[in-house]
Amino acid sequence: MQNIDWGELPFAYMKTDYNVRCYFQNGKWGELEISSSEYLNLHMAATSLHYGQEAFEGLKAFKGKDGKIRIFRLDENAKRLESSASGLLMAKVPGDLFEKAVIKAVELNKDFVPPFGLGASLYIRPLLIGSGAEVGVKAAKEYLFLVFVTPVGPYFKEGFKPVDLFICRDFDRAAPLGTGNIKAGGNYAASLIPTNLAHKDGYAAILYLDAKEKKYIDECGPANFFGIKGNKYITPDSKSILPSITNKSLMKLAEDMGMEVEVRKVHVEELAEFDEVGACGTAAVITPVKKIVDPGTNKIYEYCQDGNPGKISTKLYNRLTAIQFGEMEDVHDWIRIIN
Ligand code: PLP
Ligand code: COI
Repeated sequence: MQNIDWGELPFAYMKTDYNVRCYFQNGKWGELEISSSEYLNLHMAATSLHYGQEAFEGLKAFKGKDGKIRIFRLDENAKRLESSASGLLMAKVPGDLFEKAVIKAVELNKDFVPPFGLGASLYIRPLLIGSGAEVGVKAAKEYLFLVFVTPVGPYFKEGFKPVDLFICRDFDRAAPLGTGNIKAGGNYAASLIPTNLAHKDGYAAILYLDAKEKKYIDECGPANFFGIKGNKYITPDSKSILPSITNKSLMKLAEDMGMEVEVRKVHVEELAEFDEVGACGTAAVITPVKKIVDPGTNKIYEYCQDGNPGKISTKLYNRLTAIQFGEMEDVHDWIRIIN
């Protein structure tokens, strides 16, 4: 195994020892296979390559002070991949196959789970693709489900430090009745140009508005959006955003902290009323926001005036990561411990 500088890990691909794969053929899933190859042998007419029959997941495993490895909300990612499969007319991965594959991939690569105390984790990437050949636009008859893992540091290089966002009015990542609510690769393809433009200007990510009216907040690059107003945790209700498992968890933690949770349309001008704003997701964890620039109205919204993340965002971040690393009791049954 190579020498890994665990404390300086970027959010990037690193080769690990094994991945696991399972093939859907003749109407059923086969046995789980273990592979040490990083490559696929794929038909050139596979529907994933031509017609975007492709969805993925993202979850993490964490090593605690006690040396135990904990996977966060595995069952939720299994459910979301099922819903992505339905949305793209792909074979569904049964929940027990998903769980078995994820656990196997982590067990086989347990040396790659970063040590406790450095804020790093093992990112788990399940992938489902149409592997059957078709030339007409139709769903494949064959599928490949695979899971690989890679050790990662923070998605936004700042870590738990406030970043700037740019409101996107020239591009949409998803249509109102499109695929924004499923984790389809095509949504990310649509986000590449605006994200590159934002990065060039020094912004960490794009804040998307609803594609139809450009009035309401949708989500924030590869993460959901939340705002804190007094004792309220407020997050957008939209059919074109990914239902984030991190956001769902933060809503529960906010309630545990005695806060009120509102899931509703959030008008872009309401940005002026928030005490704190953040992006949340598996990769992003909680990324606090210090400035949001809206080129449509020339308005600039500012938070974290003292340069530090807000008090409530910090409390939520500490609770979430304490549960993930086994430092706080898992009262909601979110953790699967791997032996
Ligand atoms: N929104 C998008 C577009 C994402 O890619 C992600 C990442 O998975 C999220 C939100 C956050 O979802 P989760 O918290 O389940 O990782
Ligand atoms: C995640 O948070 O798991 C994501 O999938 C975000 C991004 C890397 C696509």
